[in-house]
Amino acid sequence: MKILENYDLTPLNTFGMRARARFFVEVNNESDLKELFLFPEFKNNSKMFLGGGSNVLFTNDFDGIIVLNKLKGVDILREDNKNVFIRSMGGEIWHNLVSFTVEKGYWGIENLALIPGTVGAAPMQNIGAYGVELKDILENVEVFEIETGAKKVFKKTECEFGYRDSVFKSKFKGKYFISAITLQLSKIPKPNISYKFLREYLESNKIIVKNSKASPVASPIRLQPRDVADAVAEIRRSKLPDPKVIGNAGSFFKNVFLSEVKIKILLEKFPDMPIFKENEVVKIPSAWLIEHCGPKDGISWKGYKEGSVGVHIKQALVLVHYGGGTGLEVKNLAEKIISSVYDKFGIKMETEVNII
Ligand code: EPU
Repeated sequence: MKILENYDLTPLNTFGMRARARFFVEVNNESDLKELFLFPEFKNNSKMFLGGGSNVLFTNDFDGIIVLNKLKGVDILREDNKNVFIRSMGGEIWHNLVSFTVEKGYWGIENLALIPGTVGAAPMQNIGAYGVELKDILENVEVFEIETGAKKVFKKTECEFGYRDSVFKSKFKGKYFISAITLQLSKIPKPNISYKFLREYLESNKIIVKNSKASPVASPIRLQPRDVADAVAEIRRSKLPDPKVIGNAGSFFKNVFLSEVKIKILLEKFPDMPIFKENEVVKIPSAWLIEHCGPKDGISWKGYKEGSVGVHIKQALVLVHYGGGTGLEVKNLAEKIISSVYDKFGIKMETEVNII
């Protein structure tokens, strides 16, 4: 294991922003990790752990040490007739883990197909898409405490998962390195096709019968995890920009959740505002709020371009980098969007992406 200096981070962040790290190291196995805790470059500097770099915006060089998680390996820990427990190391590519499980016919993470990034980053923000969140199938998270190098296991309940949130992102931010996770998947069909766009896609492609319940038994063709993963991948491809083609980090902003009372007041003023009920709270898609504001009257942010950065034409939640721009340009654009949404709707949107 070698600690490198003045390392170029451009290929390591999906925004494709130019940035350098004072120190850089790749961790390929757990013994590398144990060794790393002894290095002065690690002990005496600020640290940042990087997976796929798909949820980060560099606005500056990083004056510390970047640790790239390359821990590999996927194992079936135990199984019975109904369940299978799968442990994946944190440096695995998330979508490869999804492909592995859907190939085996296991249910649980098929709705999370094609989410960019690594397995180790998934618990940080409780990744979610198309009606499923990581917390729905997570068993535990293995970590190393950064100050002591001690290994610890967080049970699901200890992770305090919320919408795009966990203890690793909030109260324990920067305290732990996520080395592995274990998932509990199902061998018994458990499709979750409650998300409107997903259900409509499966219906219009005749993969399920229109208006049938989530049960695959009601379908003439038996639904497989692969069908759901393929549908999700297709929907994502049609709406979200491929970071290999246009720099981006997926949703730049979080959706907004408000109480019914607040929603009622807003709906009186903005009757066209779409709302989605989720348990006790109601979600307002931030994409809609952004789409209905802009740099000036009569112009929407959606599809707006400012120099080398902009707002994606098909999904207003996604900020994009066309190349040659800087992280600061994206940050400035994000701030303008946040303040225009606040001025019009009185809603303060939060960013989902980690701004460095
Ligand atoms: N909408 C607009 N304008 C747009 C796009 C969407 O008004 O440009 C409105 C529509 O009313 C639409 C609603 O927003 O019905 C929901 O849109 P979509 O299904 O695309 O989902 P989202 O709420 O905008 C979230 C996640 C995505 C995830 C999708 C699907 C967040 C911040 N984003 O987006 O996650 O793929 O749901 O589950 O929660 C990511 O985190 O990087 C990400 C892409």
